[in-house]
Amino acid sequence: MNSEQSDRRTDVWSDWLLHRRHADDPEYDRVVRAIIERYADRVLDGAQLAPGCTLADIGAGEGIVAFRAIDRIGPSLRVLLTDISPPLLHHAEALSVERGVRPQCTFLQCAADDLKQLGDASVDVVTTRAVLAYVADKGAALREFHRILRPGGRLSIAEPVFQDDAFAARALKTLIDTRPAGSVNRFLLLLHRWKAAQYPDTEEGIQQSPIANYSERDLVRFAQAAGFGGIHMELHIDIAPSIVTSWDVFLRSSPHPLAPALSVILAEQFSAEERHFFEQVFRPVVEDPKSVTADRIVYLTARKPLDPSSQPPQIVNP
Ligand SMILES: C[S@@+](CC[C@H](N)C(=O)[O-])C[C@H]1O[C@@H](n2cnc3c(N)ncnc32)[C@H](O)[C@@H]1O
Repeated sequence: MNSEQSDRRTDVWSDWLLHRRHADDPEYDRVVRAIIERYADRVLDGAQLAPGCTLADIGAGEGIVAFRAIDRIGPSLRVLLTDISPPLLHHAEALSVERGVRPQCTFLQCAADDLKQLGDASVDVVTTRAVLAYVADKGAALREFHRILRPGGRLSIAEPVFQDDAFAARALKTLIDTRPAGSVNRFLLLLHRWKAAQYPDTEEGIQQSPIANYSERDLVRFAQAAGFGGIHMELHIDIAPSIVTSWDVFLRSSPHPLAPALSVILAEQFSAEERHFFEQVFRPVVEDPKSVTADRIVYLTARKPLDPSSQPPQIVNP
């Protein structure tokens, strides 16, 4: 296999974005995409793009943010799409050809915390959506964003906050560990087994997990430490009717790229009898249109100071 072919093979990122996120269900894909487009539009509102500027979208995936930016500004916008995933870069490049915007796009394989392919002060705007959650050294990524931005350049971020999901998994584990064996509700034992396969459930696991070891306030801290000014953060928590009401879709989708689908967890970690019991209890919950889920997204915008050599001011009321 040559490197071109191996670059096109599925990896965990492309498998999730192109299949597992929507369980390969076209109708559910439309629902998910409509929501992601709203997040992307909000990132772009915060980016304050102008004609003729250069945007670096970090962890561009299929290019949702980048292509919507081009839709807004037109052919004068230059867009650098970076990602660690070769298959996703190939996919985004093919989409750019389909959309007739290939000439204004540059595709770069690099990690968010190592953007050495991009020069100092070489871009006007940095955006990133649902990427920092997977980066172990978020402070280093913020420093790289600061380095590649020109003085006065703008940063706009949206990230999911998974910490509460991990805290819920940890609470289930604590409950199970601190009750006498045999006294814990059977469904709670299975619920914990499911959640612990998708989120860390111990204090140590949470501290070591890039998806769970940060809160929205940590992102503010990283941005300030990197030298950004004019930092504005909003945490949006929406408790709303679940967008999944099909048991089949629920089984085959997963909540983030690093999480196995419930169907895989059931197959690998549950006996046939446990699977039957779990479905009996939980399927009616999934199929109930009144069931709700929580969505937690942090939006952060900031600006690189016009004189970045000056020391960032200290917080007077930390
Ligand atoms: C949830 S997807 C989001 C994709 C895109 N930003 C969007 O809004 O649809 C996460 C993306 O981050 C990329 N990614 C994961 N870890 C990364 C890293 N350390 N550096 C850069 N990109 C990364 C993945 O390849 C994937 O494209």
